[in-house]
Amino acid sequence: MRRRLAAGNWKMHGLADSLAAIADLSAAHPDPACDIVICPPATLIHRAADLVLGRAVSIGAQDCHAEDAGAHTGDISAPMLRDAGATTVILGHSERRADHGETDAAIRAKTHAALRAGLLPILCVGETLAQREAGETLGILSTQLALSLPDEARDHAIVIAYEPVWAIGSGLTPDPDQISAVHAHIRAEMSARFGTEMAGATRILYGGSVKPANAASIFAAPDVDGALVGGASLREPDFSPIIAALCASC
Ligand code: 13P
Repeated sequence: MRRRLAAGNWKMHGLADSLAAIADLSAAHPDPACDIVICPPATLIHRAADLVLGRAVSIGAQDCHAEDAGAHTGDISAPMLRDAGATTVILGHSERRADHGETDAAIRAKTHAALRAGLLPILCVGETLAQREAGETLGILSTQLALSLPDEARDHAIVIAYEPVWAIGSGLTPDPDQISAVHAHIRAEMSARFGTEMAGATRILYGGSVKPANAASIFAAPDVDGALVGGASLREPDFSPIIAALCASC
């Protein structure tokens, strides 16, 4: 059985006083039926990890460099994130693909770095609106998966997040049956490359405008193992009902 996962992506939000939201969340879910990870900005990882030590909530990062160390001013490596207390790292988010020109090949190298460091990668894939309207969704996802997953993923736990670019921050979401169809396609691609056991163990999250109001219907859809939540993960009163809906669907 795949343990469901509620992951919060804080993006470029959060100062020291935002740590209270993580403390509140941790206190509200002492023994959840699903996994919970918060990915704050890198500046807060160390303090956030200390805050949740011994608790059910874990802390993740939003990106890492492909190399373990070196002359790369301003970058942060996977071993550094691990050292700061992160257990997880989001990779290939569409905002990084767009803002930083990250290619599938670069994301593949970062995913390999995360695995080397013992971090759980949450690999993001998703189509743009133009690609969806052109009927290219499944083909785009197949290409992103093929090129951004390293062969080494075979021996590790990984998480895939299906995040349609047009659904992020827009209030729009695909229908639950559309999400299920895409997740089934992702799992079939994983199975073809890595085998049924690995594909069966891989958690596939949906991300894009997940809110308390739509969470239950999304989590009831077959093949949805949780959510990668942006805006609604910033405040405990918004994220807690989403976590509760996920746990209720376990
Ligand atoms: P929103 O939940 O704000 O749409 O963001 C989704 C996302 O990009 C999570 O990585």
